[in-house]
Amino acid sequence: MEILVATHNEHKKAEIQQILPDYRITSLSDYQLFDEIIENGQTFQENAKIKAQYCFQKTGKPSLGDDSGLVVPALGGRPGIYSARYAGDHDFKANIKKVLEEMQGNAERSAYFITVLCLISEDQERYFEGRVYGKLAHEVSGEKGFGYDPIFIPEHHNLTFAEMKTTEKNKISHRAHALRQFLEYLKA
Ligand code: IMP
Repeated sequence: MEILVATHNEHKKAEIQQILPDYRITSLSDYQLFDEIIENGQTFQENAKIKAQYCFQKTGKPSLGDDSGLVVPALGGRPGIYSARYAGDHDFKANIKKVLEEMQGNAERSAYFITVLCLISEDQERYFEGRVYGKLAHEVSGEKGFGYDPIFIPEHHNLTFAEMKTTEKNKISHRAHALRQFLEYLKA
């Protein structure tokens, strides 16, 4: 069975293919779908659905949309759905700077990453969610990963995601948890 993933990111496609070896994972690029998908939902769920729906409407294939972000309860849940463009569009340095500035002097530093997946096919619309809890560091550390990795320390660890090996991060990440939920569902 094929699952079309609403991404142009080949790394994301490969990560999902690795977790779902029995399925043929395709991406937007495989269908020459280069329209900009406007993610104007108010929740992670709505944004994941917008992406899945676009793919399903274009191809009729079972389609998977995803939306992820960093949630900081002490900041009222921000950056949340605005994670990618909190200070500047995919400007990871500026985004991190803004979060650290807003958190200055705040001792309540708990945070989590969340991924929501939405699967849409002929007869269903289903959601899967994964989270990884941790806390925000006071300064950036590490070179690996992307986004907020240099300031996020997952619980039971002393290193930021950007200091951990990618394979270690990928075992405990929000994306991995959500994909495992998805896999369990497919197996059932
Ligand atoms: P997306 O929905 O997967 O594109 O994620 C949206 C944004 O959330 C990214 O641009 C990052 O800023 C942030 N983000 C999501 N997942 C991660 C992660 O694993 N590490 C660091 N930042 C992340």
